[in-house]
Amino acid sequence: MRRLLVLVLSAMLAATGTAAANEQVVGGERASIQANPWAVYLVDDRGAQFCGGTIVAPSKVLTAAHCAIGRSPREVQVVAGREDKQDRRAGVTAAVTKIWIHKQYVAADEGEDIAVLTLRDALPYQPLPFAEPSDQALYQPGTMLRALGWGRTSENGKTSRFLMQASVPVLPDEFCVDTYPQFVQADMFCAGFEGGKVDTCQGDSGGPIVVDGKLVGVTSWGEGCARRGKPGVYVRISRYAKDLHPVVDAGVVEP
Ligand code: ARG
Repeated sequence: MRRLLVLVLSAMLAATGTAAANEQVVGGERASIQANPWAVYLVDDRGAQFCGGTIVAPSKVLTAAHCAIGRSPREVQVVAGREDKQDRRAGVTAAVTKIWIHKQYVAADEGEDIAVLTLRDALPYQPLPFAEPSDQALYQPGTMLRALGWGRTSENGKTSRFLMQASVPVLPDEFCVDTYPQFVQADMFCAGFEGGKVDTCQGDSGGPIVVDGKLVGVTSWGEGCARRGKPGVYVRISRYAKDLHPVVDAGVVEP
């Protein structure tokens, strides 16, 4: 009888422990825009935030193809320099004049989930360089990466008012292949803890995952958010450097 009580009580404790971790990108903490000036979010024509992005050149924002597909430039605006979505006076809202989507893009979980937005005006914020083919060391399993965004803070919760960040390790490709049959090693990597609890989530897509002052990935997809054994999947950006350079460097004049 006593043993049963202990069992029931510990099961309840374990359950509340999971719920608490899911309250809090999921399992993250606040991040400042000053320390991450290249982190931006995308808003629709009603001003609602729906995805993230990264400033990769003064007038270029890298995001996910699934964030941009089916939208015309006039239906998307980039909000930069604003940590708190409700702080209308902070930062700038930038008009988009052109949307480039990778020409092989079909669906997020098939790869090529990248798009570049060209802005009408240059942004007054520091761009972030992206990983090149020579940066393979950044994708070593176990490397701790930092993901940022204004997305949901729990699987079925609301998106975040404030910029959030969470640290997650790169997982071995074999783990991702076993977890997700559609996982394409060459185009993607996955990151997270085997036990879940910390992850990106809906609304974080298109946003940055970084290490050592470099953009290594773009938030792309996953099954639910922060679930045990279901890590987040990110675009392996080094693989697309060659496709991105002509788009990102176009019209960028060296000083
Ligand atoms: N596709 C989502 C979005 O549009 C991002 C999902 C990330 N999921 C995850 N479990 N890490 O915002």
